[in-house]
Amino acid sequence: MSSVDTTIQLIRTGKTEGETCSPALADGPWVFDLQAAPSYGPGSSMGDVIPTGTPRQGQIPEEYRTASNEELDARILAAKATLGDRVVVLGHFYQRDEVVKYADFVGDSFQLANAAQSRHDVEAIVFCGVHFMAETADILARPGQSVILPNLAAGCSMADMADIDSVEEAWEQLEALYGTEPDADGRVPVIPVTYMNSSAALKGFCGEHGGIVCTSSNASTVLEWAFERGQRVLFFPDQHLGRNTAKAMGIPLERMPMWNPRRPLGGNDVAGLEEAQVILWHGFCSVHKRFSVDQIDKARADFPGVRVLVHPECPMAVVDAADAAGSTDFIGKAIAAATEATTFAIGTEINMVNRLAAEYPQHTIFSLDPVICPCSTMYRIHPGYLAWVLEALVRGEVLNQITVTDEVAVPARVALERMLAAKPGTTAAQVVGD
Ligand code: 13P
Ligand code: SF4
Repeated sequence: MSSVDTTIQLIRTGKTEGETCSPALADGPWVFDLQAAPSYGPGSSMGDVIPTGTPRQGQIPEEYRTASNEELDARILAAKATLGDRVVVLGHFYQRDEVVKYADFVGDSFQLANAAQSRHDVEAIVFCGVHFMAETADILARPGQSVILPNLAAGCSMADMADIDSVEEAWEQLEALYGTEPDADGRVPVIPVTYMNSSAALKGFCGEHGGIVCTSSNASTVLEWAFERGQRVLFFPDQHLGRNTAKAMGIPLERMPMWNPRRPLGGNDVAGLEEAQVILWHGFCSVHKRFSVDQIDKARADFPGVRVLVHPECPMAVVDAADAAGSTDFIGKAIAAATEATTFAIGTEINMVNRLAAEYPQHTIFSLDPVICPCSTMYRIHPGYLAWVLEALVRGEVLNQITVTDEVAVPARVALERMLAAKPGTTAAQVVGD
């Protein structure tokens, strides 16, 4: 099976049929580095509003933009061989195949955070993921290690939907409403929980305010942890992961008001907030928002017996209509565990779905969404950028280093270590994959 990028190139040249959400996906990401106004680039997040101050990527040298795939391949392999154990390359499941093939470790965001923490022996961690993942690696790295993001424009539109000023403002309003005194069981009024897909500043905020980080693979464990310590949770930035997880734990929807940062009290009334158990930030992922119940209905009609697996960043109706929902790691493991030939329809990023289809030819595996529309920010990393940062390391130069100041990193590490230490309880129902 050809890679997503190859398929997009073939569609663009008319050599194969198929649909992409943007023909500009076939261009090199350096085209978008040049734009006067920053953008997420073509792909699922291209319609999202990009905040001012989002990191920009300068133009990489021409030799990397014009090199053939074969030349880049030889240069990346040579640089890796020279660097040997001094460097580790980490790759997220959503990266294009042309980048993932150089990763020493491929995983979901939780596994990559663990991988970064377990490689204190290397000088540099080259993170083929997105900005918040590289920040997390830097927080967990030992002093003196460099974390490198090959393209600084590889952010995350969902992470950008909650900024520290808006969260602090929300917190002030909630403290004014609920006070700060614990109840008779010692539970404080609100615990902040941030999804891993958030800036280091928000992780630091959680560390400072008795809160914690979660990923899609441990969200219900983390919510249990929070409810042992607090009467309610402020969950940011992904409303869908928050809602899907809380619903699976038995929390009624009417006790999960949404917080819109642009409106007083987040657009809620006092009575609604007093009843709240989980306050959901108004954030979402544009990759997972593309999946719909209609697509699931069509998959079931076309392939009787199909198993539908989706990521919990999908809207609630999609998760409810699926056979199971869980993290990227959960989806991979569910397919690996199938002993008989099975048809799987998957609701997560297309690069990962295609890779699973190639890895398990005994099964039929396809994306619920017929349109090829990768995560635009993951797609900003191309082998040209990887060659550029690795060859610089060979010369002793660190490019595109992601650094989190101690002021933020110290409390953020507290919130991350709470997550790494949280263990599943036995009382609450679990989102599949936890
Ligand atoms: P995972 O935590 O499952 O790796 O997902 C990360 C992500 O960005 C999903 O959109
Ligand atoms: Fe962010 Fe969605 Fe891309 Fe994940 S898939 S990195 S949440 S934009």
